[in-house]
Amino acid sequence: MRFRNLGASEISASTVALGTWAIGGWMWGGTDRKASVKAIQAAIDNGINLIDTAPVYGFGMSEEFVGEAVADRRDKVLIATKCGLIWNAKKGVFFFPSNADGISENSDREVFRYLGRESIRQEVEESLRRLKTDHIDLLQTHWQDSTTPVAETMETLLELKKEGKIRAIGVCNASIEQIEEYRKVGQLDCDQEKFSMIDRNQEKDGKLKYTEQNDIAVLCYSPLALGLLSGGISPERKFAQGDQRNTKERFSADNIRVVNSMLEEIKPLASDRNITMAQLVIAWTLHQPGITHALVGARSEKQAIENAQAGSIELSTEELTFVNEIIAGYNKKII
Ligand SMILES: NC(=O)c1ccc[n+]([C@@H]2O[C@H](COP(=O)([O-])OP(=O)(O)OC[C@H]3O[C@@H](n4cnc5c(N)ncnc54)[C@H](OP(=O)(O)O)[C@@H]3O)[C@@H](O)[C@H]2O)c1
Repeated sequence: MRFRNLGASEISASTVALGTWAIGGWMWGGTDRKASVKAIQAAIDNGINLIDTAPVYGFGMSEEFVGEAVADRRDKVLIATKCGLIWNAKKGVFFFPSNADGISENSDREVFRYLGRESIRQEVEESLRRLKTDHIDLLQTHWQDSTTPVAETMETLLELKKEGKIRAIGVCNASIEQIEEYRKVGQLDCDQEKFSMIDRNQEKDGKLKYTEQNDIAVLCYSPLALGLLSGGISPERKFAQGDQRNTKERFSADNIRVVNSMLEEIKPLASDRNITMAQLVIAWTLHQPGITHALVGARSEKQAIENAQAGSIELSTEELTFVNEIIAGYNKKII
């Protein structure tokens, strides 16, 4: 496993991190507590020290599972969680309706984007309780809220840092302009954004150059495109009820076929190197300029171990060129 600092902070985090959205069950067709705890512990035992979660993942469930899994090894683990998606008050910007399983019009709760001072403080206390810890290693604003001045949000995060409740500060889903606003107030360590072989917006808008130049770590999320790039999803695959992949166009049988053809072309390299397709995809992601860490979701011990091993795979320039040329050929064919 390789380690890189979280931006200008001196916190050294494994380049492969474990994402625990799916473990929360919400939008992923449910979850299993025992299997989730085992997956988290397997990730840690295999070199991962950064675990990413959020209050909204299972409306507290993901954080609770993380808390349980790390209770006897807290000193070996960096916990990253988030704030700014709330369902206990109607403040800020309405984002989506949801029930316990996922986003749904027939919902019993409404999720808002809100980053006001008191709300962040309350969220942090609730996260600390669920995570059974006295500090959060990285706190990230989950989505940006246009109704609260960024200065108020960032001042609150800096206060929490001073009080020792959080150690580093990050944003997610933020534009360069929004990041600049945070940086006017204090040190921003991380930016968490979607990036994979088939999600390249961060490169197109110059964001990755900006973060690299300004010593901001980029924790990319969904590097396996919700599992699609693992090579293990057939066009016939049936997802559990409530799994978001049932309704995404990206998971239509036709699109899965095209993605799998791309992966088939890449496969000889994985076979030569004796690694799995998921490992090759994660390693490729970590070789992209500006990407410092990959947050990979896993629901089982097997997946967690396999993904952790990708953190030590080195790809040569020739190997990267081989993969890049294949991806370029599919550029316009994949949704
Ligand atoms: N800040 C944000 O707004 C935001 C948004 C999204 C995600 N995130 C973070 O990023 C993390 C990772 O992203 P993600 O979970 O969305 O997607 P991902 O990492 O692209 O995909 C994870 C899914 O792929 C499958 N998988 C994982 N490892 C595999 C392997 N070795 N072989 C075969 N299949 C495998 C699993 O699903 P199945 O086994 O069910 O197929 C798993 O749940 C999240 O958990 C979360 O922490 C943040």
